[in-house]
Amino acid sequence: MRTRTQVGIVGAGPAGLLLSHLLALRGIDSVLIEIRSRAYCEARQRAGVLEDGSVALLREAGLAARLDRQGLEHGGIYLQFDGERHHIDFRELTRGRTVTVYAQTEVVKDLIARRLADGGDDAIEFSVTDTAVSSLDTDRPRLSYTDASGVRHEIDCDAIAGCDGFHGICRPAIPAGLQATWERGYPYSWLGILADVPPSTDELIYAHHPGGFALHSLRSPSVSRLYLQVDPDEDIANWPDDRIWAELSRRFELPGWTLHRGPVLDKSITPMRSFVSAPMRYGRLFLAGDAAHIVPPTGAKGLNLAFADVAVLAPALEALLHGDDKPAAAYSATCLQRVWRSTHFSWWMTTMLHHTPGADEMEAQLQLSQLRYVVGSTAAATSLAENYTGFAVPPAAS
Ligand code: FAD
Ligand code: DHB
Repeated sequence: MRTRTQVGIVGAGPAGLLLSHLLALRGIDSVLIEIRSRAYCEARQRAGVLEDGSVALLREAGLAARLDRQGLEHGGIYLQFDGERHHIDFRELTRGRTVTVYAQTEVVKDLIARRLADGGDDAIEFSVTDTAVSSLDTDRPRLSYTDASGVRHEIDCDAIAGCDGFHGICRPAIPAGLQATWERGYPYSWLGILADVPPSTDELIYAHHPGGFALHSLRSPSVSRLYLQVDPDEDIANWPDDRIWAELSRRFELPGWTLHRGPVLDKSITPMRSFVSAPMRYGRLFLAGDAAHIVPPTGAKGLNLAFADVAVLAPALEALLHGDDKPAAAYSATCLQRVWRSTHFSWWMTTMLHHTPGADEMEAQLQLSQLRYVVGSTAAATSLAENYTGFAVPPAAS
């Protein structure tokens, strides 16, 4: 079947879903295709922390009704090291800025529900196969796929947004030699659990420990989310629930404080990587979110970066469709400024808090010195707070 749309969007993660909504607000048609099922997209456990700029963007775009009821606003974090736990007060350090704990699964459910309500059942095509993009260096790029019932579609577009994550097809469609990439692997992974137990803390705890990093986060007043640094090639089968809880208790140990345990609802291991690919545009193809860049999760930047990209991309595409290429020409450079800031911040948080296997004792002393500086100096604490709470995002209607 041969059809036409204004913007073809590959990938119904946070970037693709929010982009199709921001375009619809501007009266721009899009076709959004996704290789996974709706149920899979809505259940995939990932990020949990929204910067206040992301919350403002979702509110302006009319997407925050449930977020405003169920999101948990947090005005700081704890940094734990050397047997001490210190509070970093974001509100005080950044003139009132905060973050909101609201799971990526919930953001994705809200976005999918809204797109289907506004655009009808075919606003998103789930469970497609054999996706391809072509003619990217013309003003009629083409999106091709086979739908769930086996029908092949060829869609002529004005522009294509590659929102298909790190392992997608869009970034590799850019001719070799036209992309610069920067990549750093880390010699550890995160084992994450979702547990049916109230959080044992009022704010997230980032813990430095000789045995490795640990993070206590949450999803709701009754559900906790916790992470442990493990070896990069670790097998989840080696981590029965009792071992996970024992190791978490050891890394968060503090006199007079107890980690509450509960049934584990989900567990998985995530590798860590920093990756940036530039430019984020080739002809009429625009990359957004994880398709263009990945950060290690320490600092919770990945989802927020995906939102910031599409907040810049939506008005740039609107201008492009009206014959003005200037905002589209600036898209990549505008986004990469924030991307590099978050790439540095995530790398800095990661290397300050994790134990490098085989590292000598000097690494720990340097990390502890940096952590003492962060909790002891208003200047250093303010730098962490301003990066963590994030920088301004273009408004939804700009
Ligand atoms: P994605 O969410 O990856 O969405 C891309 C979508 O494209 C997916 O639905 C995928 O199925 C689809 N797709 C792929 N290929 C194709 C194709 N060929 N055709 C059509 N569709 C396709 N960030 C944090 O801040 N904190 C965390 O704790 C955290 N944990 C994470 C754990 C994991 C396992 C991963 C992978 C990421 C994690 N992140 C975390 C990062 C954060 O979740 C991502 O930055 C965020 O999901 C980026 O959104 P996106 O829409 O750009 O990409
Ligand atoms: C969460 C994930 C992070 O990477 C982080 O730094 C903070 C919280 C989370 O999943 O809740």
